[in-house]
Amino acid sequence: MTGKLGKAHSVCSALFVLALAIAPAVQGAGHSNAAIASAHPLATAAGEEILGRGGNAFDAAIAVASVLAVVEPYSSGLGGGGFFLLHRARDGHQVMVDARETAPAGVKQEMYVGPDGKPIRGATTQGGTAAGIPGVPAALVHVAERYGTLPLAVTLASAIRHARDGFAVDERYARLAALRERSLQGLPGAARVFLEGGRAPRAGWLLRQSELAATIERLAKEGRNGFYAGPVARSLVESVNRAGGAWQLSDLAGYRAVERPALRFQYRGATVTTASLPSAGGIALAQSLNMLERFDLADSRAPETSHLLIEALRRAFHDRAQFLGDSDFVPVPVERLTSKAYAIKRGASINIAASSRSEALEHEPRAGGGNTTHFSVIDVAGNRVAATLTINLLFGSGIVAEGTGVLLNNEMDDFSVRFDVPNSFRLRGGTANAIAPGKRPLSSMTPTFVEDEKGVLVLGAPGGSRIVSQVLLAVLDYVRAPAVDLAALVGAPRFHHQWWPDVVEMEPGGFPGDWRTTLEVKGHHVEVAKRKWGNMQAVYKAKETGAVQAASDPRGAEGGWY
Ligand code: DON
Repeated sequence: MTGKLGKAHSVCSALFVLALAIAPAVQGAGHSNAAIASAHPLATAAGEEILGRGGNAFDAAIAVASVLAVVEPYSSGLGGGGFFLLHRARDGHQVMVDARETAPAGVKQEMYVGPDGKPIRGATTQGGTAAGIPGVPAALVHVAERYGTLPLAVTLASAIRHARDGFAVDERYARLAALRERSLQGLPGAARVFLEGGRAPRAGWLLRQSELAATIERLAKEGRNGFYAGPVARSLVESVNRAGGAWQLSDLAGYRAVERPALRFQYRGATVTTASLPSAGGIALAQSLNMLERFDLADSRAPETSHLLIEALRRAFHDRAQFLGDSDFVPVPVERLTSKAYAIKRGASINIAASSRSEALEHEPRAGGGNTTHFSVIDVAGNRVAATLTINLLFGSGIVAEGTGVLLNNEMDDFSVRFDVPNSFRLRGGTANAIAPGKRPLSSMTPTFVEDEKGVLVLGAPGGSRIVSQVLLAVLDYVRAPAVDLAALVGAPRFHHQWWPDVVEMEPGGFPGDWRTTLEVKGHHVEVAKRKWGNMQAVYKAKETGAVQAASDPRGAEGGWY
């Protein structure tokens, strides 16, 4: 890239520049622009450096994801999973690289449910039974081999350097480590790496992860075998099993990142491309937008409009609980659920004047504080990546596999252990999302592209079940707006509903006084959340001018995470 780098948006604060819009010196003339938004300035810088060296958006995504694995260890990493939504400009090829964790072959129901039929406390969130087989390393290799132009030795170099030489942790790290200080203290492997002398560090402390640096280096040199075979794989299995898990080397050797068709649909003239199963997020987004399409929506924060969104979300999340699971294991009627005809039927009971009651919706599921990161990239050629990656809850399972620096996820909590037992995000689900060997747990992660006559928006967010309402609000705001102010879009106030519990959560601040009362008059139970949620990262390119914007959620800098 020959253009000079220009910072179009410095979101959050002057000290905390996460998102970069990279503009060439001369606009137009066959040149378009590039933009990256991520949750950490070092990750954005690594992606920018790769674009500067002539790498494409896919190369940049590998750099961004791998640096996030080092600098946001509480959010995502080699020990976790996620989804990479890709758009290749050359031929319009779009695909979702599914790097979701899998349940190990040795899982058994009795690891999670006691002889009394009650779920075993902590089995899906702590220790070896909580961790699924990681997918991120396989995805990095897959994306590099299929879509990248640079070797992993180049795209992973920044991550290796930040892990080996260390980086000064920021306020956010300090706050999140403090939140998990107690549990990290009980996990010697994690405490040694992530705490300073057994205590949560202050901002400015240099976090060095030399073992992680060596593991990433191995991945760069040996490809997937550097992680899924050999000494790293052996250590992962031993460490997990010592913590009560049941992993085998064959679980790692057999892990594959899978290419799945992205979910694509139209909403009021815009084409929305989003995550497919095993994410439930894209389906909920499609169902909600389809149900809302017949209404002429005003500002989505106007209480009358918010009511309609809540009713659509209620129905979409109810269907999630009933029908959705890993489609490699259970039949899921995705086409029917996401069709316009189904939306008309499903949304027919939406009453403009009054809320429905969740327990009164027509079918019941069959019996049977977290963290994540998102980043968005557009390059000069128009290639795009929207990636949402996670180890699930803050610092995942807390298991650091000995000698590898790899912090393992607790993604098993995204399965439904029993239909009446909600998970950490208060999500309920039926047998479709029950634990089974090799199966991928349902996710809410919703990396998304929106294209209309204005341009292209690339977005996503962390936040567990609340990812869906964040993305829904942003898509509606984007489609309605004649002109795009991306910083305003990602900073706008949020609310959420997920069928069960039958509660509308609203972010503190940001809503006019009559918002809550109008919804309550309609019959909604409204709760003000303790803090704001999400950390949306979005980039946008205008069709006509090629001008780009990048924006990071101000909530990220404020320490919000879920
Ligand atoms: O896949 C999911 O839906 C969850 N494991 C995501 C967790 C998450 O977003 C935590 N958030 N900050």
